[in-house]
Amino acid sequence: MIGVYPGSFDPFTSGHLDILKRAARTFDCVYAAVLENNSKSVFFSVEERKEFIRRATAEAGVKNVVVDSFPGLLVDYARMIGATHIVRGLRAVTDFEYELKMDAMNSRLAPELDTVYYMAEPEHAFLSSSIVREVGAFGGSIEGLVAEANHKTIAERLLKR
Ligand code: PNS
Repeated sequence: MIGVYPGSFDPFTSGHLDILKRAARTFDCVYAAVLENNSKSVFFSVEERKEFIRRATAEAGVKNVVVDSFPGLLVDYARMIGATHIVRGLRAVTDFEYELKMDAMNSRLAPELDTVYYMAEPEHAFLSSSIVREVGAFGGSIEGLVAEANHKTIAERLLKR
């Protein structure tokens, strides 16, 4: 079974890493896929975001992850790589409606592709990329919110914004 874990990952947080690690225990291989042409504006480049995922997974010793990016529709990319499932994380109830809408559309476009959800660990329930960007931009500590391997790079980049 092959999973695809798509997202903006702007930047990749400890919460994302937790979901990816758990998915990597379930699937033979998981593609962590950064969306290229994001409709919302992003802070980090696609290359930077991919590098954060590479460094975080290397540090965590997760082997069966492929880091990639994709343009356009997720289902087209998922079919191209032969994914059997889409992987998403769920935090507070506020995620639910957004995920439900995406799930409904993806199921309509690709009925053969199921989405599986991992519940965020309580310690990550309120962690988001946007909170990391905001705290980091004002010089607050983001230690523990992103992988140790990326902490310095992300903190410095956010301060320089
Ligand atoms: O981390 P995010 O921003 O919540 O991830 C959203 C993402 C990348 C999974 C979603 O925007 C996506 O799949 N975009 C690709 C375009 C697409 O397939 N849209 C139809 C599904 S709603």
